[in-house]
Amino acid sequence: MSQLKLSTEAWSNQSMFILAAVGSAVGLGNIWKFPYITGENGGGAFVLVYLACVLLIGIPVLLSEIALGRAGKANPVQAMANLSREHSASSLWFLLGLNGVLAGALILSFYTVIAGWGVSYFFESMKGAFINIDSDGASQHFNALVSSPYELLFWHSVVSLFTVVVVAKGVKSGIERAISYMMPGLLLILLILLGYATTTGAFGQSFSFLFSPNFSKLSWEAVLIAMGHAFFTLSIGLGTMMVYGSYLSQKYSIVKASLWIAGADTLIALLAGLVIFSVVFANGLEPGAGPGLLFQTLPIAFGQMSGGWFFGTLFFALVVMAALSSTISLIEPAVSWFDQNWGIKRLHAAWILGALIWLIGIGTVLSFNAWSDVHFLGERTFFDSVDFITANIMLPLGGLLMSMFVAWVMTKEQRQQEIELDSRWMKWYLLDLKWFAPVAILIVFATNLVEADSVWMMVAVALIAYAVYVINAVRNGRSL
Ligand code: TRP
Repeated sequence: MSQLKLSTEAWSNQSMFILAAVGSAVGLGNIWKFPYITGENGGGAFVLVYLACVLLIGIPVLLSEIALGRAGKANPVQAMANLSREHSASSLWFLLGLNGVLAGALILSFYTVIAGWGVSYFFESMKGAFINIDSDGASQHFNALVSSPYELLFWHSVVSLFTVVVVAKGVKSGIERAISYMMPGLLLILLILLGYATTTGAFGQSFSFLFSPNFSKLSWEAVLIAMGHAFFTLSIGLGTMMVYGSYLSQKYSIVKASLWIAGADTLIALLAGLVIFSVVFANGLEPGAGPGLLFQTLPIAFGQMSGGWFFGTLFFALVVMAALSSTISLIEPAVSWFDQNWGIKRLHAAWILGALIWLIGIGTVLSFNAWSDVHFLGERTFFDSVDFITANIMLPLGGLLMSMFVAWVMTKEQRQQEIELDSRWMKWYLLDLKWFAPVAILIVFATNLVEADSVWMMVAVALIAYAVYVINAVRNGRSL
C-alpha cells in the first residue's frame, strides 16, 4: 500500500486559520450575490430563511468539513483516502475529494472573471467614470466592458496571476501574509462605508428592507436559493475548509472556529447589504435589479451623491479584497493535491493549475460576447453551465457526502476528538447531520435538477439512488 501523504504545512495559530477561513467565506457571495438575491426575493423574509439555512445546515456541514480535513490530515482527495482506510470504508470515498478539487477549479475559472469586473470598476471609479452617470450611461458602461473579450481577458488574467503568485508561496508566507493585509483592510473599509450609509438618509429604509420580513413575498424557489447560497457563502461542500482544516493543529477548537467563521461571514453579508441598499434607496433606485445591482445600479447611485467618487471607489476596493481572499482558497485544494499526491512542487503546481484554470475561464469570458448564443447545458451559456454544475450539483453533493461520512462512518471516538461538543449538543448535531441536513440538501439538489433538462434528471436520479446505496452500505458495514 502506498505511503500516507500528509499535510506538512500549518497555520501559525488559530487566529490565522480563522482569518483565512473568513477570507475564503467572505467574497463575491457576500457583497455581490447576497444583496442581489435578497433584492430579487423581497428582503426580510428571505434573509430570515437564509439565516435559518446557515444555522441548520451551514454550520453543521462546516464543522464536519473542517473535522474531516483535520482528521484526514491532507488535501481533500488524500484526506478521504486516509479516512476511509482508517475506518475500513469503501476506497471510493476519495471521489468526494476529487469532486471538490474539480469544483474548486471550475468555480475559480469564472470567479476570476467576475472578480475582474470588480477590479476594472475599482479603477474606473477612481478615474471618475461614474461621476454624474445616469442609468443609460451605467448600462452602456457595463455592456462595453462585458462585450469586449480582450478587456475581460485582461482583468481575468490579472486576478488569476495574483492568485497564483500568492498560493505559490505557501501557507505561511503566501496565504497568511496576503490575508493578514486584506482582512483588516476589508473590515476598515466596511466600517467606513457603514458610517457613510447612516448619512444617506435611507439607512432606516435599508434596515427595514433587510430585517422586517414579509412572508407573502417568499416563494419556494427563494427557499432553495437561500439554501444553495448558504453553501456557497460559507465555502463548504468543496474541500476548501477541509484543506484549511488539515493545516490546523489538534489543540485548537473546531467548534469555536466554525462559529467565528459563520458569524463573521453572516455579519459581513448583512453589513454589505445595509450599505448597498442605503445607497440604492437614497437615490430612489430599485433593489431588484439582479446581478446588475452592483455593476449597474450602484454606480448610478454613487454617481449622484456627494462624496460618491470617494465612497464608490472604496466600495469597489472592498469587492476586490473580498474576492481575492476567496480565489486563493478555491485553488488551494488542487494545489495541495498536486503537491502531496503527484510530487509536483507547490510553486510549479500553482502555475500549472493557474494556467489551466485561466484557460477554462476563457469560456466564461466569451460567454458574454462571442459565445453569448452558444449553448452548452440546455439553454445555458458556458458561464451559466459551469455555474450551474458547480453550485447546484457538485457543492450540494459534496456537502451531502461529507455529512454522511461524519455521521455514519466516522467512529464516535474520532468524532468527539475533533468536535468537542458536550453530549447534549452532540446529540442535536448528529440528529441534524443524519436526517435534517441530508434531506434538505437532497430536496434542493433534486429540485435544481428537475428544472434542468431530462438528461440531468436522469443523472440526478442515478446520483440519489447511489447516495441511498452508500448510506445503506455504510450502515451495514459493507464495503461498496
Ligand atoms: N465563499 C466565497 C464567496 O462567498 C466563494 C468560495 C471560496 C467558495 N471558496 C469556496 C464557494 C469553496 C464554495 C466552495 O464568494
